[in-house]
Amino acid sequence: MKNWKLYFEKHLNRKPKEQLIKALSFCASKNVALDLGAGTLIESRAILNNGFKKVIAIDNAPDVGLFVKNFNDVRLSFKNISFKEYNFPKNKFDLINAQYALPFNGEKGFNTLFKKIKNSLKNKGVFVGQFFGVKDSWNKKGSDLVFHKKSEVLKLLSGLEVIEFI
Ligand SMILES: C[S@@+](CC[C@H](N)C(=O)[O-])C[C@H]1O[C@@H](n2cnc3c(N)ncnc32)[C@H](O)[C@@H]1O
Repeated sequence: MKNWKLYFEKHLNRKPKEQLIKALSFCASKNVALDLGAGTLIESRAILNNGFKKVIAIDNAPDVGLFVKNFNDVRLSFKNISFKEYNFPKNKFDLINAQYALPFNGEKGFNTLFKKIKNSLKNKGVFVGQFFGVKDSWNKKGSDLVFHKKSEVLKLLSGLEVIEFI
């Protein structure tokens, strides 16, 4: 597992990601959200501040514990597990946020993971997140991340209405 300590320190005081703020405006209802690879929990906080009743945050990095300790909001439920270990409930989430997180799952089991994510969305639920392109600078021999061509991403997104693809 990668050590995220420096990344977290760098990101500590930033604003919530713009893509998430945009996605929030498309949420038809705001009951439960899932934040995958939640890191410093900045996006989890923004989701709750936007009116969600609950956020489940998943991240397998041990360092996230400190952010959870300082979060002070009972509407957050944090699970220190990997995406693969999470038992995705069906038809549950109004929003699934995955900022710069899913590619770190690696190629093995990625398609199954994304199928579970889609099945976990409620009707009219919103997914926001990134895939890393094949030209990404991290796409080096031996990398254990997964990189996608645009056509592959569009295939993964099948069954969802694409609101914005950049
Ligand atoms: C690039 S950081 C992004 C963190 C945060 N979403 C942000 O945008 O600042 C990737 C995050 O995903 C988490 N992560 C990576 N692989 C994971 C996995 N397989 N299961 C759960 N979390 C994972 C890391 O611990 C890290 O917090």
